Amino acid sequence: MLEHSPPSIVQRERHVLLIGFMCSGKSTVGKVLAPMLSLPFHDLDRVIEAHVGPLLPFFHREGEEAFRVVERRVLHELLSGPTAVISTGGGTPCEGDNMEHMLASGLPVLLEPSFEELMRRIRRSGGDRPLLFGLQGEALEDRVREMLRERSPYYGQAPLWVPADDAPDVLATRIVSALREGQFR
Ligand code: S3P
Repeated sequence: MLEHSPPSIVQRERHVLLIGFMCSGKSTVGKVLAPMLSLPFHDLDRVIEAHVGPLLPFFHREGEEAFRVVERRVLHELLSGPTAVISTGGGTPCEGDNMEHMLASGLPVLLEPSFEELMRRIRRSGGDRPLLFGLQGEALEDRVREMLRERSPYYGQAPLWVPADDAPDVLATRIVSALREGQFR
């Protein structure tokens, strides 16, 4: 719970949108952050799964394009709903007009772990991410580097960047302070 009044971003009824690469901590941080801001929490991937079932088999069955169509629709539904903390998928801000809509109706917050920490978490996650499926060792690292390069122009549009090697509660507190102090572009 907040010790003081909610940050003005929340008073202005805008969503707090967590963005960043796979395994950057969006979901775990979102779960801790939402109650600190007295807002509901939505995890975009879990809402999508409620419609289409587990993501890995869906990707294998229907392909990435079909996933992006559902992702866009569910994102737009959440953005037009009540103010919330929303954790997105790693590719969400990089598709079509998603980032434009996110910037219009919320504050995208980029979680940015160091490359070493990101790779540690990706290896620990046990290969359950559809777009990294089956990759190991150098091939996995090369793929992550390549995707980071492709995605950085989109991630770079976030008004608030948060270094994200720390534990979820530390990161959530860091975000609340930044929101309160208006430390974003
Ligand atoms: C994706 C990331 C995943 C999920 C889907 C596609 C991506 O979410 O949305 O597998 O394009 O980076 P996480 O970032 O939560 O792993």
